[in-house]
Amino acid sequence: MANALGADLLRVEQADINMLSAYDLIGFGSGVYFGKYHKSLLELIDRLPVLENKKAFIFSTSGIRKIQFIHDFHKPLKERLLKKGFNIIGEFSCRGFDTYGASKIIGGIKKGRPNEKDLNQAENFARVLKDRK
Ligand SMILES: Cc1cc2nc3c(=O)[nH]c(=O)nc-3n(C[C@H](O)[C@H](O)[C@H](O)COP(=O)(O)O)c2cc1C
Repeated sequence: MANALGADLLRVEQADINMLSAYDLIGFGSGVYFGKYHKSLLELIDRLPVLENKKAFIFSTSGIRKIQFIHDFHKPLKERLLKKGFNIIGEFSCRGFDTYGASKIIGGIKKGRPNEKDLNQAENFARVLKDRK
């Protein structure tokens, strides 16, 4: 995604909340843990100032797909971003190898993910974001 957008790629601990306002478009993403994005990412967004109409996209890897009302891990992140004035122009999610909990007994689920196809889809997703308002 970063390559397709020609974007800077930063870990949460490298992101300076004052510096983020200089970007036109910001992608926020992580694996999903206990039905949510990583705590450090949610906390980073809580610390951000209100950035009126700043464009954002979100992305995740998770063992199980997003299921509205039951396993909608994008929701808490989206709510936080909207509160900070972001305009969310895209969402991407794909499966990631998961050995958490009971899945460990069977050697994990979604082995090999994200795979080549997921990465291509992520790149294609990012490419079209450039033209989105
Ligand atoms: C502690 C823990 C909790 C997890 N909870 C969930 C979950 O609630 N839902 C889900 O779909 N996947 C869950 N997973 C699987 C991860 O989302 C998946 O492995 C993801 O690709 C991890 O990304 P990472 O390698 O960047 O940490 C969990 C994994 C771990 C280690």
